Amino acid sequence: MNHVVWSLACFYLLAVPFLDSAFASEVKSSNLGVDIISLNGKWQLLNSNSSVSLSAEVPGCVHTALQRQGFISDPYYRFNDLAYRWISLDNWTYTTSFTVPTHVREKGKAVLVFEGVDTVSTISLNGVTIGKTDNMFRRYDFEVTEFLKDEENILQVWIMSAVTYASQRSHAHTEYRVPPDCPPPVQKGECHVNFIRKAQSSFSWDWGPSFPTLGIWKEVRLEFFNTLRVLSYTTSPKYDSEHSSWNVEVELFIDVFVATKGLVHLSIPLLQSEAEFQLSLTPGQSKNSFVLQINQSVSLWWPFGHGEQALYDLTIDVKLEGGETFSAEQMVAFRTVELVQEPIPSSPGLSFYFRINGKPVFLKGSNWIPAHAFQDQVTTDMITILLRSAQKANMNALRVWGGGVYEQDIFYSLCDMYGIMIWQDFMFACALYPTEKDFIQTVREEVTQQVRRLKSHPSVVIWSGNNENEAAIATDWFNIPVAERPLYVKDYVNLYVENIRDIVLQEDSTRPFLVSSPTNGVESEKEGWVAKDPYDPHYGDTHYYNYYNDCWDWTAFPRTRFASEYGFQSWPSFSTLSKVSQSTDWDFSSNFSAHRQHHADGNQQMLKQAELHYILPNSTDPVQRYRDTIYVTQVMQAQCVKIQTEFYRHSRSEIVEGEGHTMGTLYWQLNDIWQGPSWSSVEFGGKWKMLHYWATDFYAPLLSVGVEDKGDLLIYAISDSHSEQHSVKAKVKLYSWSSFSAVCSLESNVTTIKAGSTLVFQHPISALLTQCGNCTRRSCIAVFHLSSPEGQMISPHNHIFLSSPRYAEGLKKPNITFTVNGTGDAQSFFVTLHCTFPAVYVWLDVDDIPGHFDVNGFLMLSKKATVIFGAWRPTTADEITANLHITSLRDVY
Ligand SMILES: *[C@@H]1O[C@H](CO)[C@@H](O)[C@H](O)[C@H]1NC(C)=O
Ligand SMILES: *[C@@H]1O[C@H](CO)[C@@H](O)[C@H](O)[C@H]1NC(C)=O
Ligand SMILES: *[C@@H]1O[C@H](CO)[C@@H](O)[C@H](O)[C@H]1NC(C)=O
Ligand SMILES: *[C@@H]1O[C@H](CO)[C@@H](O)[C@H](O)[C@H]1NC(C)=O
Ligand SMILES: *[C@@H]1O[C@H](CO)[C@@H](O)[C@H](O)[C@H]1NC(C)=O
Ligand SMILES: *[C@@H]1O[C@H](CO)[C@@H](O)[C@H](O)[C@H]1NC(C)=O
Ligand SMILES: *[C@@H]1O[C@H](CO)[C@@H](O)[C@H](O)[C@H]1NC(C)=O
Ligand SMILES: *[C@@H]1O[C@H](CO)[C@@H](O)[C@H](O)[C@H]1NC(C)=O
Ligand SMILES: *[C@@H]1O[C@H](CO)[C@@H](O)[C@H](O)[C@H]1NC(C)=O
Repeated sequence: MNHVVWSLACFYLLAVPFLDSAFASEVKSSNLGVDIISLNGKWQLLNSNSSVSLSAEVPGCVHTALQRQGFISDPYYRFNDLAYRWISLDNWTYTTSFTVPTHVREKGKAVLVFEGVDTVSTISLNGVTIGKTDNMFRRYDFEVTEFLKDEENILQVWIMSAVTYASQRSHAHTEYRVPPDCPPPVQKGECHVNFIRKAQSSFSWDWGPSFPTLGIWKEVRLEFFNTLRVLSYTTSPKYDSEHSSWNVEVELFIDVFVATKGLVHLSIPLLQSEAEFQLSLTPGQSKNSFVLQINQSVSLWWPFGHGEQALYDLTIDVKLEGGETFSAEQMVAFRTVELVQEPIPSSPGLSFYFRINGKPVFLKGSNWIPAHAFQDQVTTDMITILLRSAQKANMNALRVWGGGVYEQDIFYSLCDMYGIMIWQDFMFACALYPTEKDFIQTVREEVTQQVRRLKSHPSVVIWSGNNENEAAIATDWFNIPVAERPLYVKDYVNLYVENIRDIVLQEDSTRPFLVSSPTNGVESEKEGWVAKDPYDPHYGDTHYYNYYNDCWDWTAFPRTRFASEYGFQSWPSFSTLSKVSQSTDWDFSSNFSAHRQHHADGNQQMLKQAELHYILPNSTDPVQRYRDTIYVTQVMQAQCVKIQTEFYRHSRSEIVEGEGHTMGTLYWQLNDIWQGPSWSSVEFGGKWKMLHYWATDFYAPLLSVGVEDKGDLLIYAISDSHSEQHSVKAKVKLYSWSSFSAVCSLESNVTTIKAGSTLVFQHPISALLTQCGNCTRRSCIAVFHLSSPEGQMISPHNHIFLSSPRYAEGLKKPNITFTVNGTGDAQSFFVTLHCTFPAVYVWLDVDDIPGHFDVNGFLMLSKKATVIFGAWRPTTADEITANLHITSLRDVY
């Protein structure tokens, strides 16, 4: 980390060691004379009839506490999500006690700060109710000056079952229904989650369990002050195109008890920029804005693959007339972002792409879901592994999907450093929402707080109001009679446009806002915010799923402007599943396999899609067959997402029948919430599926893509780079399944390409096969890459099957053997492979040894190949040898 954000909370966190039981008078005198007492640590936890009593960590949740104290075993194990349902149906009370030294208590104002309560709670101090919460996405500050005692204080947080609350709120909403009532039965979830401001996926999703958590999931502390305290601050660089210079707007949000004056000093030492401002404060909460002009040229922040991620430190120093001081350091990065929606020649509709620092940038990435059902268990390491994995796969963007949580600060700081652009949804998904006054009010506060928390991050490039709720109304997911529709549209506009959009536009002018995803953007706005067809490929973004079509048939994909969701399921690896299952579960038709699958017909869809092109495993050893089936689902998923993504990448420069100019691909989904089948490319625990390895190639900055179109083999050269031109030629070889030498080689003429896609090779396949003498569609495969005019390889190897591998002629069991040797570094190893016959989709799996290979799931068209395993912890060649399983397509039948 090359920057540190110092805030009051952060300062205290670092300075105060773990505290046990009653929080004795551990007080820190910090900036501006604010004293802070942390209430993190061990609290007492009790269920409603007092049959369960235990100590519980804060921040934390009830499930985690029960598990850590041995009351329950791993909630993810087998069918435990059902067995532990009672936890979420009960109400729970957290209790702690603390003392406050007299000199601290005598300060003018005391505030109890909850950074996050999950979710519905009543909070009492020394028996007096001091506040209530109903939104896990908000921070709550309660003034407690009058309620503190000199002796021991008792703080209680009574948390009501989220399931009970949602149900009561839904039943209280009698005028009209707000669907959906319940998730589909296959999800085994709870009902009415749209009535509670809580991670919507916590009541189950089609990739995750139902664990409607309860807890105090973020920090708790007391703040004492005589004059004022700083609540938060933001920094927003703004480009002044008239003067070709940058201004940094700094906002200080201050809670003032006694009127005062002071000076604010801002500086960015690296840019020799500084300025001083007068501060004049009256009691109450206020926003104070200052603008620091930058008179020097700055290094811009670029998305990964497009340049550096330049980050600067800005220091904020406040000095009050009473002598108290405050100082903080905040990271600043300079970049502009525009969402361009304008007419395209020869196409109806409008473009939809991001312009970063004035350059069009193709967004390559995926969608992010919560990394754990129990958010208190999400560690910095877990987030780092996932984001590093995204960057290693050449991703430059992730969408933080609207059914989960606004991620923790470190997530966005890492994205700033890695150059990963964030499409940030507000947390509303796949439902209609109520618009009662108190609901709107709590959402307004949530949105204000989250925008202020996240707007300083350059990685956040867009806000989006919700996930799929425009589509839900437009395409009538919930059987709403036509006559009632205007009522729902009115609620929709009220929530997302008149409230959320309104606040975002007021709070942040440095990035675009979209009301929904998918949406037609400005066209949806014209149509009253709910377009007739939000999936229209001529406008905005689209989500597209089709499991029954053959995914090799690219003609079925919408040639969209921006693909923000698409994907296919697969099962995670055997080693990941075996942590939550037992041997009786290891069968594709076991109760466990059915239970874990939360998407109706999902297991059948995977096999049917796989069967179109691959022979399904038929080992007589059931565990081997189970492992092989997992492998085949991963092959299917990787191949399907590859074909669809490559289609979108080469559609970047094309308009076909009015469709095209695709400028973004975010496949569904990057990560997993537990060990189960899903659309993810990285498993729970961080292990890469085959898809993730392949993403490294299909997201390469310079890529060749092969497509069969009307009997011709087309090869496109695709480049992301807007600054360079490349002279390239495509080199194409045909290999027969029965030999290791290419049966023929061709190459294209040299073509100069720039950002976008260029057709560099076109040849009728029948002529190719004839030219190659002995080749048929079934006996040969075409492999290709781009090279420089001098013949140097400049893009990853790619290939295209000329018929399904299930009909491959001459493909034999490859008999792959291996040796592992060290490189001298305990985290890096060579694996040398030998095979007797060419092999398809060679897959190396080292069970639980964390790390990843440099390539995996590859074609092996030579007798020998060497791959490198990079471990995330020290290991040995022997350990790898003992755990390595190698599978290829021909090995499973
Ligand atoms: C107390 O609550 C627990 C957990 O909800 C429940 O299993 C138990 O039956 C209850 N006991 C009584 C006496 O109601
Ligand atoms: C939890 O609290 C609610 C609201 O007071 C109540 O209706 C419900 O019965 C309580 N549940 C249990 C298990 O005590
Ligand atoms: C930048 O230039 C403006 C106008 O010339 C000047 O007022 C300001 O003091 C300069 N700022 C810094 C930080 O040097
Ligand atoms: C699978 O579940 C069904 C229905 O719950 C049950 O009857 C059956 O015994 C279970 N089978 C196994 C092998 O556990
Ligand atoms: C390469 O260029 C030559 C000369 O312009 C042309 O005759 C030939 O058809 C081209 N070859 C291919 C494969 O496009
Ligand atoms: C073509 O196939 C025949 C029969 O399999 C074989 O004898 C011959 O060597 C092959 N020719 C080439 C050019 O590979
Ligand atoms: C498999 O490979 C090993 C080692 O390369 C070799 O000794 C053996 O003969 C091969 N087996 C077959 C059936 O080809
Ligand atoms: C390990 O394997 C690599 C690749 O096959 C080889 O180049 C290297 O010499 C080997 N090192 C040792 C110590 O055997
Ligand atoms: C599995 O299927 C293959 C191809 O159809 C067949 O050759 C093989 O005998 C089958 N194996 C078993 C164990 O049924």
